[in-house]
Amino acid sequence: MLKIQEIPTPGYEKVLEAQDSEIGLHCFIAIHNTAIGPAMGGMRVYPYASREDALTDALRLSKAMTYKSALAENGLGGGKSVIIANSKTDKTPALLQGFAEVVNTLKGKYIAAEDVGSTPEDMAIIRTRTPYVGALPTEKSSGDPSRFTAWGVYRGMRAVARKLWNDESLRKKIIAIQGLGHVGSKLANILFWEGAYLILCDKDPLVTQEHARLYGAQIIDTKDFISIPCDILAPCALGGIINEKTLPQLHCKAVAGAANNQLLNAEAGRELMRKGILYAPDFAINAGGIINAAAEFDPQGYDPKLARDRVNHIYDTLLEIFNKAEKEHKPANQVADELAEYKLQHLIGKRQSPLSFAK
Ligand code: NAI
Repeated sequence: MLKIQEIPTPGYEKVLEAQDSEIGLHCFIAIHNTAIGPAMGGMRVYPYASREDALTDALRLSKAMTYKSALAENGLGGGKSVIIANSKTDKTPALLQGFAEVVNTLKGKYIAAEDVGSTPEDMAIIRTRTPYVGALPTEKSSGDPSRFTAWGVYRGMRAVARKLWNDESLRKKIIAIQGLGHVGSKLANILFWEGAYLILCDKDPLVTQEHARLYGAQIIDTKDFISIPCDILAPCALGGIINEKTLPQLHCKAVAGAANNQLLNAEAGRELMRKGILYAPDFAINAGGIINAAAEFDPQGYDPKLARDRVNHIYDTLLEIFNKAEKEHKPANQVADELAEYKLQHLIGKRQSPLSFAK
């Protein structure tokens, strides 16, 4: 039996916890803000150690989605869902359909999409029980967001290179990537063709070896990632990687990667600035996927060329953030927050007409 309860949470529009022991479902859906449009955000499937860890992640990630979409002006609000489960062993069609029932109760206030531990094929299963899901593997939908996310991160890295070296080429730059999943592997591919020197790690050693072979890359142990001397450190696994403990170990000139919530807290951003390390705010550089997913709701239908052109703007957004941060002597993450908050407050990019959903 599906049990859904609301968890009143200050600063959030709606937070739901749902459980169904028969199908092994325990999930949270957090809707942070829908001032600009319905909340869209990925469904994360992860074996969280506790209920509290899962809830905290849903809250942090959904707030980041509000900022990401506001900054990108894509007419969407911020939300996120997490399912406490192992994506390799526990993700059954019944579990996904149970989750879909929970999404359906929100009547389009939250739209699910892919994230860590979920795939476009999972979205197709969810679609059988609710229309409120995007990034489907169908002709009219936007599909796997990760190639757009990877391209956006690459565009963001070029902005980093322009700011630091006054030349946006990444040729011969030493770039360390942590996490060779959907985004990290595609990013490694793009950077290889650009001529960068790659240093790679994934918690799965076979995945690391395979990528290192393809790209003639150096392999490092995941525990050495944070301290590796390089030009750009690209976290593309999980969040919280820049913190009090890891900050003194950094030997990079910039941090620019796909992972959500890379800074454990705002103080970490201030410390990066003090150390003279350029930080590409995560929700600005990794917006490619949501920009692409939002394009699915264009009145004239999804066009990948238009989505690509919008993702290319990540370069300009980051340069704007870097230049403002320098001028105002503020950390880049603070400037990115302020820009997103300004757009939210003034409803810049607010969606004017209701969404129609791809079949
Ligand atoms: P994924 O689940 O496909 O890949 C993550 C990879 O990181 C896996 O290969 C995993 O083995 C590896 N990994 C996990 N912990 C690790 C560790 N401690 N050290 C080294 N490797 C580790 O996830 P995906 O989709 O590639 O996303 C990566 C990050 O980017 C996540 O933080 C996600 O939230 C963020 N992101 C993803 C978007 C997308 O379009 N997929 C959009 C925006 C953000």
